[in-house]
Amino acid sequence: MIIEPRTRGFICLTAHPKGCEKNVQNQIEYVKSKGAIQGPKKVLVIGASTGFGLSSRITSAFGSEAATIGVFFEKPPKEGKTASPGWYNSAAFEVEAAKAGLYAKSINGDAFSSEIKVETLALLKKDLGQVDLVIYSLASPVRTHPETGVRHKSVLKPINGVYTNKTVDFHTGKVTDISINPCVDGDIENTVAVMGGEDWKMWMTALIDADLLAPNAKSIAYSYIGPEVTQAVYRDGTIGRAKDHLEATAFEITDLLKDLKGEAFVSVNKALVTQASSAIPVIPLYISLLYRVMKNHNVHEGTIQQIQRLFQDKVYTGKPIETDEKGRIRVDELELRADIQAEVAELWKTVSTENLPEISDIEGYSLDFFNLFGFKVAGVDYELESNEMVNVPSL
Ligand code: NAI
Repeated sequence: MIIEPRTRGFICLTAHPKGCEKNVQNQIEYVKSKGAIQGPKKVLVIGASTGFGLSSRITSAFGSEAATIGVFFEKPPKEGKTASPGWYNSAAFEVEAAKAGLYAKSINGDAFSSEIKVETLALLKKDLGQVDLVIYSLASPVRTHPETGVRHKSVLKPINGVYTNKTVDFHTGKVTDISINPCVDGDIENTVAVMGGEDWKMWMTALIDADLLAPNAKSIAYSYIGPEVTQAVYRDGTIGRAKDHLEATAFEITDLLKDLKGEAFVSVNKALVTQASSAIPVIPLYISLLYRVMKNHNVHEGTIQQIQRLFQDKVYTGKPIETDEKGRIRVDELELRADIQAEVAELWKTVSTENLPEISDIEGYSLDFFNLFGFKVAGVDYELESNEMVNVPSL
């Protein structure tokens, strides 16, 4: 079939298998171009199909020849109906891994559930044995708690008072004011339950109990801090509380890993267009200004540049890992550089529908958004018929 983008708000209902494949191949080429990393050899990636998790899987495999098991929650295709992009990405990843002689298998299901944990441990036991790196990169709006059965919903709300600021509809380029009401009872707890560290710790505990972690094993989860303008809705908002919890959990997990001499970290990453971030109000406008400024300074990075640098320059250097005063690894230092932030803040004051195309990189934002779903990817012929019924070989 001929596959075209069909968007509804900040989601795209279709995905292009060839475009997703090309994206994965481009990421692989990038990692290979940066040379070998003395990194992990057996890696479990939870949230492995898109965004930072996919880039972590690609960096592990093609940077340090790791065998990978990827866990994700994606929609397979049906006749006449495309899969979700993470499905096509994972299919392409497995094909490329096989060509390179690398072990790669995937598990598609709810990573928050006990069933998927049990299934993953069984696959590890059968095929790989102990892993030396666990990446935890889930981004989800909901989590059904495996013990209580309660379905928690995360919200993106300020905590103290109404937050009003500019936002953009990146499809139309219209800049408007948006007001977000403060959270209500239960919102913080629910958001922490979904995006905090409890599930990460459950995974790590299960892996330790099953003796599936190698000596010196590491685990890394991803966090965000961001600028002043988004602070009330992001870092000081409900999601920020979840990130505080995630960051605190890293220390608890390091404690659990003491006997193995292992360590858990949170890496604070840069703001980037992913399915998760396009859903957050205000962030797309900030990202489109940030992209413009970072591209002007030649310091722009995508998920693969961020994660490749995280592995090569921060984690697998042969030296102790450097962290900030809160024990976090920082790869957001270019985003938060004083000169970059000062320029973004200046642009933020004047940005409007009229000057948006001129002062921001809304075009780059929009292109990245379509690219996430495999559309508008350079080198792909969208006029050609493509087969939507692509298999993930291991599934
Ligand atoms: P994403 O939406 O691209 O990826 C989310 C991944 O989680 C996908 O592989 C998806 O299949 C998987 N997933 C979601 N629910 C699942 C479930 N119930 N069971 C199994 N898999 C599930 O998101 P992104 O942006 O890569 O986020 C990953 C982490 O990075 C999050 O913790 C996010 O807060 C963090 N981060 C994101 C930044 C951004 O600007 N996008 C910046 C800094 C940190």
